[in-house]
Amino acid sequence: MTSSQVVLELRDVQKSFGSVVALRSGTIAVESGSIHALVGENGAGKSTLVKIVAGLYQRDAGTFQLGGEDVNFTSTAQSKAAGVAVIYQEPTLFPDLSVTENIFMGRQPTNRFGRINRAAMRDEAKALFARLGVNIDPDRPAEGLSIADQQVIEIAKAVSLNARVLIMDEPTAALSGVEVDRLFAIARSLRDEGRGLMFISHRFDEVFALCDKVTVMRDGSYIATNLISETTVDALVQQMVGREVTELFPKQEAVIGEPVLVVEDLESPGIFHDISFTVRSGEIVGLAGLVGAGRSEVARAVFGVDKYKSGRVTVDGKTVKPGSPVAAMQAGLALIPEDRRKQGLVVDSGVGENITSVILNQLTKLGVINGRKQHDEAREWATKLEVKAQALDTIAGTLSGGNQQKVVIAKWLATNPKLLIIDEPTRGIDVGTKSEVHRLLSQLAGTGMGILMISSELPEVLGMADRVLVMHEGRISQEIDRSQATSESVMRAATGAVTVVL
Ligand SMILES: Nc1ncnc2c1ncn2[C@@H]1O[C@H](COP(=O)(O)OP(=O)(O)OP(=O)(O)O)[C@@H](O)[C@H]1O
Ligand SMILES: [Mg+2]
Repeated sequence: MTSSQVVLELRDVQKSFGSVVALRSGTIAVESGSIHALVGENGAGKSTLVKIVAGLYQRDAGTFQLGGEDVNFTSTAQSKAAGVAVIYQEPTLFPDLSVTENIFMGRQPTNRFGRINRAAMRDEAKALFARLGVNIDPDRPAEGLSIADQQVIEIAKAVSLNARVLIMDEPTAALSGVEVDRLFAIARSLRDEGRGLMFISHRFDEVFALCDKVTVMRDGSYIATNLISETTVDALVQQMVGREVTELFPKQEAVIGEPVLVVEDLESPGIFHDISFTVRSGEIVGLAGLVGAGRSEVARAVFGVDKYKSGRVTVDGKTVKPGSPVAAMQAGLALIPEDRRKQGLVVDSGVGENITSVILNQLTKLGVINGRKQHDEAREWATKLEVKAQALDTIAGTLSGGNQQKVVIAKWLATNPKLLIIDEPTRGIDVGTKSEVHRLLSQLAGTGMGILMISSELPEVLGMADRVLVMHEGRISQEIDRSQATSESVMRAATGAVTVVL
């Protein structure tokens, strides 16, 4: 092994927000020419550590060095100037500006038309993309680009600034398999150029595929740093949760009853076709497929968020008015969307208010909210989902990413629907709570709720679903019973390679 140099080092860094200690002892040493994973449960303090490095927050105590020198950033501009680039899960591009303009944001020539070096900038953008092995038109506006392409632009920006440290905080959460592969190829080439990379993810397969070292945090504290080649998933989980997580998918047997949701011939030109399926009471139906196969679109249409051209949705035998989430809700449907932060969290309201926001009418009598009932209801669901918040009135926007997701899940479960549609139930959720979410879904099915679960994680689908519907290019390409469902059979159907059963 070559002797690598530590480019970024934090030691015993502390950060509190009022009485909340977000970081007790943030410690990590990232070497140049390596990819270092940072893992830990939701609320462990990972993003807080990143934000200190990025100059968004300032530490209360501890040491922070970059290239062996003490630093103390009071702005993101300082952090950038010192060679740190951070890629967040949701990129922060300016939608109206072109790709090139976004890359050179703040560094354009000062000519009042801003045009002088347009051609040069454009050429450099092209060269950057060529180097990263991607094909993006430098002249197009950032608006409408996929999340994956937006991330690549953020990376191109980092490379053009010659960043020596690149931090990615859950960058893969919204990417498809191919896009993840492309991102990893870029990350590896940046590593081979000698940059230091930090990678945050809840997916162990990614951590093992990409990283050289992994640091584990728990409750704001440093626990351990391991060489990837010398550790295992079980060992990491043990370090993360401080206990053994044995059963990841504790599926209970449920009595499967009458059809609750019947979807017939749903059609939305260019999006999905011929969608027909049934979900029975007590049944968990998995909706598998590659990202982009149309699964979320079907869910949104069934719940009335999007319109469809023809077809019918019935709940308990009654037709649900299309294009109306209110009607869907009244019929007994609930949809927990994939992008929970954008679609469902009121970030400046309290945790409790968020959880009870959809059931307020049940808690209101003569126009007055029963505060006690509201509190009890909120507490029950916050506890069930292990939401890590100081109190029920904690502002939802200050929770960690994963805990914000749990609040949105809690909110919809509190409506006690007949049929729950849940899109990527455990994305962004840590390993300890994953099994909790699964246990909860299983339990809800046990009470007779029907569940349609969209998931890209095969083990989750295989572990939880009584039946698997596989979508491919806007159609249900196959329906597979639990007893027949294997990673191979689901993957084959998802990629369009359907085996004909005679
Ligand atoms: N601005 C803030 N105000 C108050 N509390 C905060 C703030 N930012 C973070 N926290 C708290 O600090 C703790 C650590 O949060 P952080 O976002 O660092 O967790 P994380 O490890 O990134 O979790 P996740 O995996 O869910 O993204 C959480 O309890 C969170 O509520
Ligand atoms: Mg986070």
